[in-house]
Amino acid sequence: MSKIKVALAGVGNCASALIQGIQYYRKNPPKEDNLTTGLMHPKFGDYKVEDITFVAAFEVNRNKIGSDLSKAIFTEPNCAPKISDVPDMDVTVKAGPILDGVAPHMREPFHVYNKNRTKPVDVAAELKDSGAEILVNYLPVGSEKGARFYAQQALDAGCGFVNCIPEFIASNDGWSKKFEDRKLPIAGDDIKSQVGATIVHRALVDLFLKRGVRVDESYQLNLGGDTDFLNMTVEERLHSKRISKTTAVASLIPYDVPTRIGPSDYVPWALTVESEVLSRVSLLTVSSIRQSRSLTVRRPNGSKTTSKERGSAKPRLSLFSALQEPAGILPNYDSIDLSSSIPHNAPLHP
Ligand SMILES: NC(=O)c1ccc[n+]([C@@H]2O[C@H](COP(=O)([O-])OP(=O)(O)OC[C@H]3O[C@@H](n4cnc5c(N)ncnc54)[C@H](O)[C@@H]3O)[C@@H](O)[C@H]2O)c1
Repeated sequence: MSKIKVALAGVGNCASALIQGIQYYRKNPPKEDNLTTGLMHPKFGDYKVEDITFVAAFEVNRNKIGSDLSKAIFTEPNCAPKISDVPDMDVTVKAGPILDGVAPHMREPFHVYNKNRTKPVDVAAELKDSGAEILVNYLPVGSEKGARFYAQQALDAGCGFVNCIPEFIASNDGWSKKFEDRKLPIAGDDIKSQVGATIVHRALVDLFLKRGVRVDESYQLNLGGDTDFLNMTVEERLHSKRISKTTAVASLIPYDVPTRIGPSDYVPWALTVESEVLSRVSLLTVSSIRQSRSLTVRRPNGSKTTSKERGSAKPRLSLFSALQEPAGILPNYDSIDLSSSIPHNAPLHP
């Protein structure tokens, strides 16, 4: 099979997880049974994971610009866990225009380049020169102009476009027609973690409805400790994210329900996304996300136990946090002990 040549707009944590994940599966090919691969679609048509290759990348972080992509993905403030070594990729990260990709409170954390010293490249020309076939948009939430700029550059260069952020481009008739007219693929909008809060919320709502239980109202609070969450502490950037996430759940319910879903806090030491799904009807489901040194579990008979008492020599990840690595890439199982996963019926206490 020929390779799929991919370019990236934004080399943050999702880009890191994607590149590392592909490298991981190059070394550990998905098993034939398709059940335990960690991937929803180990093959897409005739294409396999290892057929994806990266040919260009655009950034505004001065410490990433000029670096090889294999190094940029591990450059601060990226903090996605390392699951794979990535050899030199022979792709130099180029300066993209800043536009509205960077909110005022993100200038410092993103180490944005100085416009007097660095000039952005001609993105469409770079895409053409690199032979890119697909441009993947990983800009921060709220990049209304930025997302449209990169979509237009993809069109100009004859590239497909995958919009991973909640800006309505693929779902907009005008934009999708432009790609259709040029016979270019477009996909989006917004990605969903493999087993993150939104899909868990959807599954719960679906379960309630199938079991004849009426959902009266629902909300989901997400918090995390990466720049995605730091960026989203400013409500003005969240408009489309709230619509995107709320629609994902509310669309399942065949009547109007008060629903509020979205990022609610940034906690610098929260390594993974933590969320609560709360439905008034019956139960409180708390995703048990803790980088737990001592996770207290109360058994049904009232006795308590902690992860340390159960012989954990090293901090262990709870089941949910293991499932919430960025962009749905499964973490390195060697470093995660799931043997003490919490019994499904044991209430959790903070
Ligand atoms: N992690 C998930 O599962 C998930 C789910 C849904 C949506 N998303 C969305 O995907 C996007 C990427 O997430 P992330 O965790 O990688 O975020 P991130 O903050 O780690 O990365 C964003 C990157 O974009 C760069 N950037 C900002 N403006 C730019 C510009 N004009 N041109 C080029 N680069 C620019 C920043 O320097 C940063 O490196 C976010 O919008 C996020 O909400 C992620």
